[in-house]
Amino acid sequence: MGKGFFISKTVGILGIIAGVGALATIIALSVVYSQEKGKNNNQNEEQTTSKPPTTTPIPSNKPWDKYRLPKNLVPETYNVTLWPRLTPDPTTGLYTFLGSSVVDFECVEDTDLILIHSNKLNYTEFENQLARLMSVSSVEAPAIKSSWLQGVTQYLVLELDGTLKKGHKYRLYTEFIGELADDLGGFYRSEYMEDGEKRVMATTQMQPTDARKSFPCFDEPAMKAYFFITLIHDRGTTALSNGKDIETTEINHDGQDLLKTVFERTEKMSTYLLAFIVSDYDSIGNSIDGVEIRIFARRSAIAAGQGQYALNKTGPILKFFEQYYNATYPLPKSDQIAIPDFNAGAMENWGLITYRETALLYDEAFSSNSNKEKIATIIAHELAHMWFGNLVTLRWWNDLWLNEGFASYVEYLGANNAEPEWNVTDLIVLGDIHRVFAIDALASSHPLSSKEEDIQTPAQISELFDAISYSKGASVLRMLSDFLTEDVFQLGLRSYLSAFSFGNAVYTDLWYHLQKAADSSKLELPDTLDNIMNTWVLQMGFPVVTINTGTGSVSQQHFLLDPEAVVTTPSPFNYQWIIPIKWMMTGNMQNPLWLTSKSAMKATQDQWVLANVNMVGYYRVNYDDDNWAKLLDVLQSNHQVRQRMIVNVAQILDDAFNLARAKIISTVQALNTTKYLSNERDYIPWKAALNNLDFFYLMFDRSEVYGPMQDYLVKKVSPLFEYYKQMTDNSSKVPDGHMDQYNQVNAISLACRTGLEECQNLVMTWFQEWMDTDTNRIHPNLRSTVYCNAIAAGGKKEWDFAWSQFIKNDSTAIESDKLRYALSCTKQPWLLNRYLEYTLDPDMIRKQDATATIVDIASNVVGQSLAWDFVRARWSYIFSQYGGGSFSFSNLVNGVTKRFSTEFELQQVRYFFEMTLPQCGFPFVHFVILLLNWFGSHGPP
Ligand SMILES: *[C@@H]1O[C@H](CO)[C@@H](O)[C@H](O)[C@H]1NC(C)=O
Ligand SMILES: *[C@@H]1O[C@H](CO)[C@@H](O)[C@H](O)[C@H]1NC(C)=O
Ligand SMILES: *[C@@H]1O[C@H](CO)[C@@H](O)[C@H](O)[C@H]1NC(C)=O
Ligand SMILES: *[C@@H]1O[C@H](CO)[C@@H](O)[C@H](O)[C@H]1NC(C)=O
Ligand SMILES: *[C@@H]1O[C@H](CO)[C@@H](O)[C@H](O)[C@H]1NC(C)=O
Ligand SMILES: [Zn+2]
Repeated sequence: MGKGFFISKTVGILGIIAGVGALATIIALSVVYSQEKGKNNNQNEEQTTSKPPTTTPIPSNKPWDKYRLPKNLVPETYNVTLWPRLTPDPTTGLYTFLGSSVVDFECVEDTDLILIHSNKLNYTEFENQLARLMSVSSVEAPAIKSSWLQGVTQYLVLELDGTLKKGHKYRLYTEFIGELADDLGGFYRSEYMEDGEKRVMATTQMQPTDARKSFPCFDEPAMKAYFFITLIHDRGTTALSNGKDIETTEINHDGQDLLKTVFERTEKMSTYLLAFIVSDYDSIGNSIDGVEIRIFARRSAIAAGQGQYALNKTGPILKFFEQYYNATYPLPKSDQIAIPDFNAGAMENWGLITYRETALLYDEAFSSNSNKEKIATIIAHELAHMWFGNLVTLRWWNDLWLNEGFASYVEYLGANNAEPEWNVTDLIVLGDIHRVFAIDALASSHPLSSKEEDIQTPAQISELFDAISYSKGASVLRMLSDFLTEDVFQLGLRSYLSAFSFGNAVYTDLWYHLQKAADSSKLELPDTLDNIMNTWVLQMGFPVVTINTGTGSVSQQHFLLDPEAVVTTPSPFNYQWIIPIKWMMTGNMQNPLWLTSKSAMKATQDQWVLANVNMVGYYRVNYDDDNWAKLLDVLQSNHQVRQRMIVNVAQILDDAFNLARAKIISTVQALNTTKYLSNERDYIPWKAALNNLDFFYLMFDRSEVYGPMQDYLVKKVSPLFEYYKQMTDNSSKVPDGHMDQYNQVNAISLACRTGLEECQNLVMTWFQEWMDTDTNRIHPNLRSTVYCNAIAAGGKKEWDFAWSQFIKNDSTAIESDKLRYALSCTKQPWLLNRYLEYTLDPDMIRKQDATATIVDIASNVVGQSLAWDFVRARWSYIFSQYGGGSFSFSNLVNGVTKRFSTEFELQQVRYFFEMTLPQCGFPFVHFVILLLNWFGSHGPP
């Protein structure tokens, strides 16, 4: 369908609705929407013929060509000494680290081959071999026949002249050198400025498969062992690791005065949870019931008190989890440290948790309430892992979803305990359920659980760290905990943790302990826990439950955003689920039920039904038209009932919009749910509405209905804007309540976006005052939205001012993050282009932030095509720096293309990826499949 046709139709509709009210706008929007949608489905048909090929590892019979370790050797103890050099080698210019390692292991099956993981390490040779082998028991160790490094599968391979004997212990000694690169993986370096000087620190990120990049090790989560760690470091620096430091001595090595810090032996643990850090950081600390708690950060941050909030909350959250798990914290200390360059949000290394600076450091002068909540939540998430994940570890990465889903669920419980006034537990609906619904409703989604044999390569492992594992995992576990009741859930959980302490488990082990708890509590379930949960864990997607209140019938069907999508993945349950339903009739709670063919929810003329109360179930709900109308009426007119079901109001909005996108209900019906918004003051429903309107913005901001849509939204948001203006003394303060603070931001950002003049003047005045006086009086809560709107409305002067502040604020990551985002809001193409160039220069934009910045620019209407051109032009560089299965890379590909809606644009994407595909590895192919499906299913995104 051509563009000309699209425009003339739209112009016609515009003529009809000129001067008419909200309903007409709604209809016009829905007409254009369905045209766009239609175009998209055509595209979908063409796509099915051009499925990219899938790459599988080359099969081979040699043990060293397989990615999994053979099972004949089991490590017991490692002694690892590492010396990171914080100045570059004068001859090569490289930053390096030196190391030596002793590993004692037991042979459990005779073998003449030793495979141990090693990646990017160079070894010292002993008698022409890369290692020395000794015996620890009575038999003699065989000689090493040949040894080499196997690059693809990342092994140090030792072929032996004789056999290692079952039941005997051996010792392997190695010396090696590695690069301390700025690549954010394994043992790497991070840099920052302090007192006008460049500081270099050494830090680690092992998960999932980079421990082998710092020393040779059996790098699989079930290969638990004890670790004796020693770090050599410069005088004036501090060394940290998982264990407590026992002693630091001065040594002289190669004529250099150094320090040697020895750490106490760790508990029995997995390699991916190790951490080694050398820095000149400062710290604050306290202790709780004998456990030492410390927060580390660069000196200026500690001096500014930025570690205090984390320190205040860590002890109480640890205590909360001790009680929740009925198990004392298993280690003598808990260190948490903020790293300037860090790829993920945080990492649960046992006893030494690493964070992005923005995820740990709080400063009243710079942090918004959202920053603060993020800190409390991430700390809770990581501390939850100290038991669930670290003490008891999943046997292999295919069960990652249980580890991450669990922590992503209980992080809300931990944060709620730390900040009870915030009521954060309900936010899981916005933060996880709605978020992952969007992905899990695609025909290209995948089940929570993967087969162990399907997850082999490091890239396949990295791919598991996705929204399905985190957010669907959390949502499904929350549902489980709800239908079991929190007491039974805890009982089973505690028994699981005590059964597998310091060991490994698979997800069905947890089901077994929960089943036992349910049985002992005489809880009645419609089937075994295993059978119930299998329907949620072994098949992708989720159901929409359809209730006809006239006949009382209740049924389910696989919910797909694209009604024409063809599901090619077979399901062992034919896309049927065993569904727990909590429901209410005309505002009164009813007995919960399990969906069966006999379920009935019949209502009389003056009754209405609402199902999935508090959105505890992982499914959407649709009703007959009559019941929809009654629900909308409750929203419109019954303030008290509405307030008692705030989460469900958000659910009604989100379900309606998504049912409309799936063509199950009409778009008019969905937009009708927004009519009542002029009366809404609560955060959760507003946020759900905005998330869905975002989608409409993405589609329409390049079309002619943009104007009428803005007019309609201005009418909806003005009362909210007015409400907060009154409450906050002309927007000069922020409200008291946590949710009110969030909603004030929503009010300002939507009001400004829809062009409410009063709002725009307000933000421009604030920003101007900052530029004029160099004093920033904008409240931290409002900064992101104020900066963004002011830069969007302004030109070079505003942008340059913000950039100078960004550079100046490098030491306060919280503030520089807000500026970095706002800089992407300008409407000037040349400024955006220049900004894009900056993203690939680590001296301008840190590597950890590069892809996020490009995606921010792509989210700007003006920036989208610029970002797309930029990514294509710099493809090989970006891929080499940020590719290879990293989290941020998939975000980049999705982010820069999410606005595409025309056939021409789609062809561009396809052409480009076809050209580049052959040189890319497996994870990339996966992203392309995701991307192509996204086109098919999302309507014009
Ligand atoms: C490892 O280090 C510990 C503590 O320093 C020591 O007791 C042990 O003997 C060492 N083991 C080996 C194999 O070097
Ligand atoms: C390891 O050896 C390779 C090949 O000789 C070399 O290019 C690389 O720089 C070495 N790495 C380090 C850290 O010395
Ligand atoms: C930390 O706790 C202390 C003592 O309760 C309190 O005075 C301080 O304001 C708290 N700091 C932060 C940032 O929460
Ligand atoms: C908590 O743990 C203790 C011992 O570790 C045990 O005796 C007790 O039964 C446990 N309580 C619960 C509720 O699991
Ligand atoms: C938190 O929830 C309780 C109970 O639902 C409510 O009374 C209270 O006002 C809420 N607090 C905030 C800050 O929203
Ligand atoms: Zn986690």
